[in-house]
Amino acid sequence: MTRPLAALRRRDVLGGLLALAGVAIPRHARPAVAALPEILSAPTRRPEPGLVEIALEAAPARLSVAGQPAELWTYAGAFPGRLLRLREGETVRLRFANRLPEPTNLHFHGLHVPPTGRADNTWLHIPPGETFAYEFTVPPGAGGTHWYHPHVHGGIARQMWAGLAGPLIVDGPLDAMPELAATDERIVLLKDLALVDGRPAPHGVMDWHKGKEGDLVLVNGVPSPELRATAGTVRLRLINACNARYFRLGLEDGRPWHLIATDGHFLEQPQALDDLLLVPGARADVLIPLEGRGEVRLRHLFYDRRTPDFTPERTLLTIVPRAGARPLPLPERLAAVPRLRPDDAAARRRITMAMFLLGGRPFNPHRIDISGRLDDVELWEVENVGTMDHPFHTHTWYFQVATLNGRPEPFAAWRDTVNLRPGDRLELLVPLRSYPGRSVYHCHIAEHGDKGMMGVIEVI
Ligand code: C2O
Ligand code: CU
Ligand code: CU
Repeated sequence: MTRPLAALRRRDVLGGLLALAGVAIPRHARPAVAALPEILSAPTRRPEPGLVEIALEAAPARLSVAGQPAELWTYAGAFPGRLLRLREGETVRLRFANRLPEPTNLHFHGLHVPPTGRADNTWLHIPPGETFAYEFTVPPGAGGTHWYHPHVHGGIARQMWAGLAGPLIVDGPLDAMPELAATDERIVLLKDLALVDGRPAPHGVMDWHKGKEGDLVLVNGVPSPELRATAGTVRLRLINACNARYFRLGLEDGRPWHLIATDGHFLEQPQALDDLLLVPGARADVLIPLEGRGEVRLRHLFYDRRTPDFTPERTLLTIVPRAGARPLPLPERLAAVPRLRPDDAAARRRITMAMFLLGGRPFNPHRIDISGRLDDVELWEVENVGTMDHPFHTHTWYFQVATLNGRPEPFAAWRDTVNLRPGDRLELLVPLRSYPGRSVYHCHIAEHGDKGMMGVIEVI
């Protein structure tokens, strides 16, 4: 018996202990495993073709999380926040009401819309008790897995930690290809939490350095749920909505699974996965083929991001196939991802990352750190000169990784969030396309962004 204890589910351990004690437990007395909750849509209407109207409210709510009472900040009373489900090409009118006791706003993470006006404008602060009408058009090609969260500078970590984060999905034409349309598609939003006296545990001094993690590791708001698959292949839209927790994900039995999209952008073709590192802010769409009756366990594996904390490995999600399930054929081609080349870059930037500094200085919202020209491709050399991992994220524009420590990326992919280990040097190719305006890039450990690891880019 060499299976490590950490690989056993809690009910196995409990059952084992009771069996050792000579106690027989009837099957029905085992602790119930929660089903993977579906994240319901925020109130949405489509009064005419091409227009969607959504109502969303940020407000405190009393909920129950992992069997404990929890007073959280929520979107539409739900944790995680309600789903925003959009379509390519449509105009979105989103009425946002702030019922929190302090200013907040919305950031549509990953959505390629203007950083100005009533769109993804994180310079706006909506005062408590007020309403704001966001309005933007979802561009063609925006189909994918995104999310939304508050972006009031200096208060992002606290507001996200209080519960504010929700999925944002844009349905696009590729989702209709038969190999994808026939999958059992689920949104899987990962978010951790720690409760003290029924409230999110307050930040301590060290939390700002390490980034705050919680002992409750939740999948759509519940610990270690079960997904009863309705098709032979499951498509998971994975979202890391944690302040700071990294997920190295793997399947327990080492069976094949496939990456089809990074940060809401399809790859050219599915890539076989071994393990998958999903850092705060990042998304990944994966296909998991099911064979026969065996359960498939998605595991949270050990990862050392150079903090003193240790998280035991655990099962995040158990996928239960239908009897006789057979995998669907894999899509052969997904999207065209034309590779950008360093020679295409019109400008070169160098950005260092270290604790609470980006490019060697702390965030100043009134200073422009990068001035770019609309439609230029830029080459950003980002280097982690600090002692722990930092996930680098851009708003508005997204990028390709050209090289990591001098080695080219093995396959072409679009991303908006990428990890740097200490000493890592990345070359990113960033097309400043579609929208002029002032936007930000930052470390997506929420505490680090708030403490200064954020820069301002203006594109004209
Ligand atoms: Cu999730 Cu400024 O980003
Ligand atoms: Cu973002
Ligand atoms: Cu950081």
